[in-house]
Amino acid sequence: MSARHLVLSGIAKSFDGPSGRQRVVDGFDLEVEARELVALIGHSGCGKSTVLSMVAGLTKPDVGSIVLGGRAVKDPGPDRGMVFQSACLLPWMTALQNVLLAVEQVMPSATRAQQRASAMHYLELVGLDDAAARKPAELSMGMRQRVGLARAFACRPDVLLLDEPFGMLDSITRMELQDVLLSLWSEHRITALMVTHDVDEALLLSDRVVMMTSGPHAHVGEILEVALERPRNRRMLVEDARFDAMRERVIGFLEERAGHHAAPTDEERDELESLSLAEPSSKAEATISGSAP
Ligand SMILES: Nc1ncnc2c1ncn2[C@@H]1O[C@H](COP(=O)(O)OP(=O)(O)OP(=O)(O)O)[C@@H](O)[C@H]1O
Ligand SMILES: [Mg+2]
Repeated sequence: MSARHLVLSGIAKSFDGPSGRQRVVDGFDLEVEARELVALIGHSGCGKSTVLSMVAGLTKPDVGSIVLGGRAVKDPGPDRGMVFQSACLLPWMTALQNVLLAVEQVMPSATRAQQRASAMHYLELVGLDDAAARKPAELSMGMRQRVGLARAFACRPDVLLLDEPFGMLDSITRMELQDVLLSLWSEHRITALMVTHDVDEALLLSDRVVMMTSGPHAHVGEILEVALERPRNRRMLVEDARFDAMRERVIGFLEERAGHHAAPTDEERDELESLSLAEPSSKAEATISGSAP
């Protein structure tokens, strides 16, 4: 694997909209290193999912190239894993069977016992070994998302694409799942590109935060190196002045530089606040210290 594992160069994508064809993403360049976890953040509608979908091969860029592990991305493939807001599990299969499906693909010549042991290992990592025999309908939304993460890591993709994976969860479950993702990623170090709306989440989890300008013609505006030691936990971050400074920088970008030339409107500020972005430290502490170990 090259150091620059995933390379997006000069990506542009247009869609037909109510006011004609619009170039949603334009001049999008990004390089992700092997085993890096990169967070992609930007205002709603700027084109984050579009970028992810192009890396997944589900949507083709109009211009530019996407290269993964030295090969051009043309179509969807098993070298890319996707995690969405909901887990998309097969409802007639148990949690274990859902994960086993992935394990069978990557360990086709292993014995059944080895495959089951591997699937159980992933379920243990997400704290669900006790629920292995339950079907999705018997699991909470957070538990389903845990199975989804276990399955995604069990596939051992070259890159894992996560599109707001915790967006539908309440804040406590969300924090739990962030910890699950951190522990899975620490153990398996899969290259990951994760879309999030949440600045705190981006800083807790990622190596770099890629900030997208607002569309149309959205592209990478700034990249923040999250130079915080790992393993990380929320308590550590709240007490770290570097975290505050980084938080301010990302919020500053979203408020001022994401393509808004004037001060944010009330509506935009509401959006930022609802995403736990707008108001500084007191809110950060509420969000971040909530589940400190
Ligand atoms: N298949 C499509 N056809 C037409 N327009 C599309 C299509 N997919 C995306 N768009 C438009 O492209 C823009 C970017 O959409 P996208 O879903 O990538 O945004 P996003 O940044 O992921 O937003 P959110 O944070 O709300 O999920 C939007 O204006 C959307 O309406
Ligand atoms: Mg989206």
